Amino acid sequence: MRAPRGTINGMSDSNTLNFDVLIIGSGAAGLSLALRMPAAVRVALVAKRELEEGNTLYAQGGISAVLDARDSVDSHVADTLAAGAGLCDEDVVRMVVEQGPDNIRWLFEEGVEFTRSPATGDSGYHLTREGGHSHRRVVHAADATGRAVETTLVRRLDSHPNVSVFEHFIAVDLAVAEHRDGRRQRRTCHGAYLLDIRGDHVVPVAARSVVLATGGASKVYLYTSNPDVATGDGIAMAWRAGCRVANMEFIQFHPTCLYHPQAKSFLISEAVRGEGGRLLLPDGTRFMPDFDERAELAPRDIVARAIDHEMKRLGIDSVFLDISHKPAAEIERLFPTIHQRCLELGFDMTCEPLPVVPAAHYTCGGIKTDQRARTDVHGLYTIGEAAYTGLHGANRMASNSLLECLVFSELALADILERLQRPASDGSTIPPWDESRVTDSDEEVVVSHNWDELRRFMWDYVGIVRSNKRLQRAQRRVNLLRHEINEYYGNFRVSNDLLELRNLVDVADLIIQSAMRRRESRGLHFNRDFPDRDDNQAVPTMLIPDNYVPRRSGAG
Ligand code: FAD
Ligand code: SIN
Repeated sequence: MRAPRGTINGMSDSNTLNFDVLIIGSGAAGLSLALRMPAAVRVALVAKRELEEGNTLYAQGGISAVLDARDSVDSHVADTLAAGAGLCDEDVVRMVVEQGPDNIRWLFEEGVEFTRSPATGDSGYHLTREGGHSHRRVVHAADATGRAVETTLVRRLDSHPNVSVFEHFIAVDLAVAEHRDGRRQRRTCHGAYLLDIRGDHVVPVAARSVVLATGGASKVYLYTSNPDVATGDGIAMAWRAGCRVANMEFIQFHPTCLYHPQAKSFLISEAVRGEGGRLLLPDGTRFMPDFDERAELAPRDIVARAIDHEMKRLGIDSVFLDISHKPAAEIERLFPTIHQRCLELGFDMTCEPLPVVPAAHYTCGGIKTDQRARTDVHGLYTIGEAAYTGLHGANRMASNSLLECLVFSELALADILERLQRPASDGSTIPPWDESRVTDSDEEVVVSHNWDELRRFMWDYVGIVRSNKRLQRAQRRVNLLRHEINEYYGNFRVSNDLLELRNLVDVADLIIQSAMRRRESRGLHFNRDFPDRDDNQAVPTMLIPDNYVPRRSGAG
């Protein structure tokens, strides 16, 4: 039997738990890997809130895949490369695109109900369109695709008793050991420390393979479409553990989040523009054709920058997105969730334009992985938004993210199963968690104050438009915060908020460092001091931690 949610049968506080595979994160990436594991493999699946909570749950538009006979792999590849502004790894793009249709079929077999349309192509699925795509190729479940995927996959866990679920457990750090392998040093991950948030104690968990499926880091910005869990924990943990991190300057700002004080950056899907929505200034003028011939369907970096430009030029709080020229019944059928939420907030999109602003949405960079989802540390894998695979380059194309989660979970699966077949040559126990020198914090306000400060200066100085001076300012502030947080971390018992803040500060530092290294503007990274693209710099930004040990190619 699967352990009941939130409890672990037969566990005492300080015992080390043992599994074959530890998956940290239960979004599309973590869940699809857990469900694909054979029944004989003992899996721990960890989430820091309820299993369902994470970016996947809120995904709206859909998943891109070549499902229409008039579409082609070459076309999907070409669109992805164009959106990625010269920084995608073409081999990875092709591999992901080729594996797209099989992964959609897998979701369908697991029970995900996509919107159907007998009129469209061979597949029977209704395919919508989004920015950067030259064909209709986005399969979706109305405008709540992520909810359909996430809730269906969570339900499927009930028939996988080999998967033990740990909800409300936040991974603190990875357990990594360095040792000699012949003449070479080798770093291996043996597990992780998890804080039981409700029980308030730290549990060491050992596993032959550890998978980070912890999602993105957009919570580092004041305004974001992401839920609270998106604090970049996996990226920060992997960096501290000795993994390289790439392309962190490429943070995607979604052009159209609802502008409303109570909306907490509620997303208005790009599919609204795909189905004919137009961006307007307050006087009703359409402005996107002046910026790009693809107008509202240009890639997101172009649309978000155009909106930012117009808002600053006119001193306005938002622009407007208008689809009210379409029949009301069609709007309600395609966008029931968005329509309903907007009504609750006082806007009727069937007959009026919606006020919209850009907000931080997606982390294009992340932990460097190879085509088997392996990181620089043996036994440690990364899948989903936390990873840098080479698929997205300098700007992710809409609906390519869920696709990447699915494809890379399958690639990780193959390597993890191979690894399990080999003897555990570098077996090592995890040292117990040491709390002997810490006390309870008496000043939790430090944490909440620093959270706010960090997110505000990241928005102001490291947002859609950057400059050398702004980046330097941000760097000085992040250095101060880091010092303060590390001191705090060393002296006080860990809590969820402290752990997230520590990770956000590390991630902010990685974003700023990467942005400072790129002395050009490309894709999502725009620096006023280097406004042009420079094709001599068409390489990923690779940050290397002090404890990095190169791994032998091919070694498991
Ligand atoms: P997530 O789904 O974010 O899951 C992360 C998991 O990690 C959670 O379970 C969380 O609890 C866990 N976790 C994190 N840190 C820790 C820790 N320290 N300890 C334990 N657990 C931890 N992409 C598309 O392709 N199509 C779309 O239509 C689309 N729409 C989107 C709409 C919105 C509003 C948003 C925010 C994103 C959208 N995206 C879309 C992007 C896409 O949803 C995400 O990139 C994708 O879902 C990420 O999946 P994931 O499994 O990597 O991470
Ligand atoms: C959206 O529906 O606009 C989000 C799609 C995505 O982020 O890929």
